[in-house]
Amino acid sequence: MKKRYETVVVGGGIIGASIAYHLAKAGIKTAVFESGEIGQKATRAAAGMLGAHAECDKPGTFFEFARASQKAYQRLEAELKQISGIDIRRRDGGILKLAFSESDRERLMQMAVLDSAEWLTPGEVYEKEPYAAKGILGANFIQDDVHVEPVSVCMAFAKGAKLSGADIFEYTPVTSIETGPGAVTVKTASGEAEAEHAVIASGVWSGVFFKQLGLNKRFYPVKGECLSVWNEGIPLNRTLYHDHCYIVPRHSGKLVVGATMKPGDWNEQPELGGIEAVIKKAKTMLPEIEKMKIDKCWAGLRPETEDGNPYIGRHPENGRILFAAGHFRNGILLAPATGAMITDMILGRPVKKTWEEAFQAERKEAVNR
Ligand code: FAD
Ligand code: GLY
Repeated sequence: MKKRYETVVVGGGIIGASIAYHLAKAGIKTAVFESGEIGQKATRAAAGMLGAHAECDKPGTFFEFARASQKAYQRLEAELKQISGIDIRRRDGGILKLAFSESDRERLMQMAVLDSAEWLTPGEVYEKEPYAAKGILGANFIQDDVHVEPVSVCMAFAKGAKLSGADIFEYTPVTSIETGPGAVTVKTASGEAEAEHAVIASGVWSGVFFKQLGLNKRFYPVKGECLSVWNEGIPLNRTLYHDHCYIVPRHSGKLVVGATMKPGDWNEQPELGGIEAVIKKAKTMLPEIEKMKIDKCWAGLRPETEDGNPYIGRHPENGRILFAAGHFRNGILLAPATGAMITDMILGRPVKKTWEEAFQAERKEAVNR
């Protein structure tokens, strides 16, 4: 007999796991089908910055959505610990976006008007982080842009979903999704399931389902290469950030250093040249990093869309199908708000009109970022 669910989620990265958690907690009988293991693709590669300010250039719908998701983490941290027993390893301290040139300074000072961002003079920066590179012209300090450990968050969502009754099937790739009048049929390598709704949350691999379901939306990978090093020597309490590169001090004592941006590269192995480029940028922010011991290197594929914004919402012609994919550089940050928004849509609860319009598949314009 076919298994029957109210909702099937395709993909068990942080986005699929958050959706399953929010749905199962709301009493919806949910299943997740995951090709491999939970949280082992882009989610595992991420640094875990909740960079609502760091990743947005201006206020607007995207920033508002990102900020709501960032705030949701404050509640989720305790809730996930209580429900799943897993600590998401949030680390306070915030982000210092360093200015190395006059144009950096001008751009960053304009952004310091966003709430929770504050412009610091070089002296104020060195008071906070004495080992930041000499010669900077100041920094934008964003206290609320804390970080978490992405795999821990994903595992906590998945375990929380399971404890609320969801079924999670690993090593079960979905091969096709067919829609009929009464249900959606989700075909996997090891059988079929029927559901009221299916949610496509397969990261950069979502394009194949969009195509099957009649939507011509391209997804492409933007490969990011990273490394981690052991910091046994110097105090560093805040993430240092410049020109899309960052040094993130984890609770473990490791520093996560990232990341390259290589559009169109589907290969998930880090290359020496990529790691070399990341190390070079890291040394400009934190010269002392040169002496630190390498822990490991890795790479992951950011799921990018045509306009850089995620698709979160219903299929324009088939209300049984929903999308939650294409979170590009910000899937860790946006996971809570995405899970809540998809759950609200499935339950018929009100959803912010501006968010619905900005992230729907057939949108007219990209929202500001
Ligand atoms: P994924 O984590 O890739 O999960 C998709 C899942 O779908 C995979 O597990 C895959 O196996 C599964 N799947 C695919 N096809 C099928 C199928 N046919 N059937 C079943 N399952 C399928 N974001 C931040 O917010 N902060 C950061 O600091 C940050 N740093 C990053 C650093 C790097 C180097 C990279 C690469 C990304 C970073 N990101 C960051 C972005 C973030 O990692 C992604 O936006 C996020 O992980 C996307 O989550 P996802 O669940 O959509 O995709
Ligand atoms: N958000 C950091 C990255 O994508 O590298």
